Amino acid sequence: MTQQSIGIIMNGVSGRMGYRQHLLRSILAIREQGGVLLSDGSRVQVEPMLVGRSIPKLAALAEKHGIDHYTDNLDEALANPDFPIYADFLVTTARVEAIRRAIAAGKHIYTEKPTAESFDDALELARLAEAAGVRHGVVHDKLYLPGFQKLRRLIDSGFFGEILSVRGEFGYWVFEGDWQPAQRPSWNYRSDDGGGIVSDMFAHWNYVIENLFGRIESVYARAVTHIPKRVDENEREYAATADDAAYAIFELENGVIVQLNSSWAVRVNRKELVEFQVDGTLGSAVVGLFGCRIQPRNATPKPVWNPDLPETHNYFADWIEVPDNDVFENGFKVQWEQFLRSVVEGTPYDFDLLAGARGVRLSVEGLRSSAEGRRIDLPAVTL
Ligand SMILES: NC(=O)c1ccc[n+]([C@@H]2O[C@H](COP(=O)([O-])OP(=O)(O)OC[C@H]3O[C@@H](n4cnc5c(N)ncnc54)[C@H](O)[C@@H]3O)[C@@H](O)[C@H]2O)c1
Repeated sequence: MTQQSIGIIMNGVSGRMGYRQHLLRSILAIREQGGVLLSDGSRVQVEPMLVGRSIPKLAALAEKHGIDHYTDNLDEALANPDFPIYADFLVTTARVEAIRRAIAAGKHIYTEKPTAESFDDALELARLAEAAGVRHGVVHDKLYLPGFQKLRRLIDSGFFGEILSVRGEFGYWVFEGDWQPAQRPSWNYRSDDGGGIVSDMFAHWNYVIENLFGRIESVYARAVTHIPKRVDENEREYAATADDAAYAIFELENGVIVQLNSSWAVRVNRKELVEFQVDGTLGSAVVGLFGCRIQPRNATPKPVWNPDLPETHNYFADWIEVPDNDVFENGFKVQWEQFLRSVVEGTPYDFDLLAGARGVRLSVEGLRSSAEGRRIDLPAVTL
């Protein structure tokens, strides 16, 4: 058994995602467990290098977690051959430039989504990375959630028969920041800073839909800004220029209709912050981040519409909870492990910058659909 080590340049680790999901829950957790298990039974250990704009912040993080390497100079980090992977958790507006530099330096790329603000930029990153012959991966975290893993099982087992439609609700109330601080960074609500729920969530919906249900052939969306003024981290009022809700219909190549509401201006009356209902000829499922409830065709009640009679049937009681039957690890960590294996073993990686570009395209075309008030066709994307 050989033990090797691989260096990872982590840019943006002081941010919400960079710190919690990527550094703490993924890379440090992998380091703690002794590295990633490879197919030949050996392990590869991880060695992070923190990159950011504030040395005091980086030094404090390095000290707290026993990390040897940190710098505020990205070029210096990229010039270090002991760190062949560049990982990006910056605000979206800063991403393209940083990834371009990392590809030029010959680094493998792993990045948060959306990979860019424009489809052209996103596709260019995919092309540059392919041309440079590096591995590239984009976060597809939602696919690793227990609820979606259970949904995958149901689909693979043929539970649904033919899937007809999917209805999804994602959202919760994001505080305006006046009488209670907002629970998300203020840049999310300014379009010039890369904000907006379409740019944020359609990047997820693209890979969730194409990996579970089929390729998206068209989008119709209505994106709106329900809350036009918010208060930022410094208690200053600002104009919320970005969309904070989107009502969308996606049509898939196999005829499945997916209808998805995404909103930071709804109050939760669901079991979880996201729920998808999948209806098929042989059964239906309601899937959240963790839970998954099913109702097979042969246990479906027969409701009869009668507005003169109060409802006595408890429809919720008809659903069966799908058991875990597994231990589900943090999805960001599982995906990191798969990506690291692909880099070390040289195997292909499907959740790549081209997949990221398809996600960006869905956001861009979703916003265009909203602005023009029409359905937009989405031809297949190629390099
Ligand atoms: N996968 C997911 O579920 C998920 C969830 C939330 C956010 N995100 C994505 O992760 C990224 C980061 O989001 P976040 O919520 O962690 O934001 P954040 O504001 O908490 O963190 C952003 C990071 O970028 C750095 N930064 C800001 N402006 C910069 C600039 N001009 N140049 C260099 N660095 C800069 C900040 O110092 C910080 O480290 C975004 O692209 C966002 O879309 C993904």
